[in-house]
Amino acid sequence: MIKTLIKSKDSRDDTLAPSKFSETVRVRRAPGAQMRIAVFGLGYVGAVSAACLARDGHSVIGVDLKASKVSMINDGKSPIVEKYVGEMIAEGAESGRLRATQNAADAVAQSELSLICVGTPSRGNGSLDTAAVEHVCKEIGAALKGRSDPHTVVLRSTVLPGTMRSLVIPALEAASERNAESGLYIANNPEFLRESTAVEDYDHPPKTVIGAVDEETAGRVAALYAGIDAPLFLTGVETAELVKYADNAWHAVKVAFANEIGSLSKAVDVDSHDVMDIFCADKKLNISPAYLRPGFAFGGSCLPKDLRALIYRGKTLDVETPLLTGAVLSNKRQIDRAFEIITATGRKSIAFLGISFKADTDDLRESPQVALVEKLLGKGYQVRIYDRSVHLARLTGANRDYVNDHIPHIADILGDDLEETVAGAEVVVIGNRAAEFRTVPAMMRPTQRLVDLVRIPLPENFSCRYDGVNW
Ligand SMILES: NC(=O)c1ccc[n+]([C@@H]2O[C@H](COP(=O)([O-])OP(=O)(O)OC[C@H]3O[C@@H](n4cnc5c(N)ncnc54)[C@H](O)[C@@H]3O)[C@@H](O)[C@H]2O)c1
Repeated sequence: MIKTLIKSKDSRDDTLAPSKFSETVRVRRAPGAQMRIAVFGLGYVGAVSAACLARDGHSVIGVDLKASKVSMINDGKSPIVEKYVGEMIAEGAESGRLRATQNAADAVAQSELSLICVGTPSRGNGSLDTAAVEHVCKEIGAALKGRSDPHTVVLRSTVLPGTMRSLVIPALEAASERNAESGLYIANNPEFLRESTAVEDYDHPPKTVIGAVDEETAGRVAALYAGIDAPLFLTGVETAELVKYADNAWHAVKVAFANEIGSLSKAVDVDSHDVMDIFCADKKLNISPAYLRPGFAFGGSCLPKDLRALIYRGKTLDVETPLLTGAVLSNKRQIDRAFEIITATGRKSIAFLGISFKADTDDLRESPQVALVEKLLGKGYQVRIYDRSVHLARLTGANRDYVNDHIPHIADILGDDLEETVAGAEVVVIGNRAAEFRTVPAMMRPTQRLVDLVRIPLPENFSCRYDGVNW
């Protein structure tokens, strides 16, 4: 697991937060030290970054393979269509703070920090093409060889987790024959700007994320954003790489979700914007962190049933809902994943703690924990269950009937003593967030295994082999 180095700063300083263009051009942020910066790639990200950095008082030299982009910058013209950028590039070129070249070595020679903003397009099969990143790293590295002054290289292009460690850092270190000990600092710093509002987004990003292998490097990069008004996350390189993909995947899922609900709305003659306006007004469960922590499958008496009904209604209306259908499939996959983790322990005797879909309810309808236990029983595992809320003696009415009618085999293996259930097993599975399960790790013997579906806090001296379902 990658450790977050530091998390900090969610401050607002309105005097440093220009939102109108006239202010954007005129106002310089109260800067950190003025820096000499090379920006590699003068596309959307590079041109905006170069223009904003020059506006903020830094001395910026842009680098691109394309002669046309280089001469446009040197002529004070923007190589991209983007609000405010043309004016800022004109001002930067006129003041001498912004210029461009095709010669990477020259740019690096005149800089203390290099920002890599080259493209990372899709290949035909969907995989990520990192050739331009690799090429630029080799060029920057070669230009740094033999130099002893400190240099920071910051990757702003979007790359998959592992790219920094497997490609960017080795390429730079090999070509320069330097590393952090000899003053070469390497970080990644994903970009969150959106085209058409890029300058606004540069000045007011939703967050600044800097991924580095050490705090000193992270601090050097953070200095670039002195005065930027956004939460700052200094983290490990893989975390920073993946955050960008989590963001974009989420945005794509949101669009697809809204469109599927929209199509269903249209088919039943309801205004989709009314539905989604009301949906978005719910800041407690909908537009909120609720349900956004990795963990076990969803279940219970409502979500699975209602999702199935909506998908089926869509079918009868000829409205395909692949995202909603995908959610059902994904949920089944999560149960399989937990099963595979448990069976991979190679042990047969299981204590399953928490059988209802969430703690403090005795409702077992469509509990994914029950589905998981049934799968284990079906494969011959010896399972004992403990769940205070589902204790048979306490079950009443409909829930007692449900257990007796639908899952009598579960009733047979319900224990009533937590410590005894834990002590009798080789593998302990924590299935829901019942408060008493926090005491479980301390009860375990070192030879036992813990499979955690909810991310229980572990004591410092916990020595059992531990597997989290998604962590
Ligand atoms: N466009 C966006 O809104 C956006 C937002 C966030 C992140 N990103 C990411 O930022 C990166 C850049 O995106 P973009 O849209 O600015 O790309 P782009 O295609 O607009 O620009 C890339 C530039 O890099 C140049 N280039 C390629 N190889 C080079 C080399 N060896 N040396 C110098 N220049 C070279 C190209 O000529 C081009 O001008 C991508 O990884 C992208 O996923 C883009």
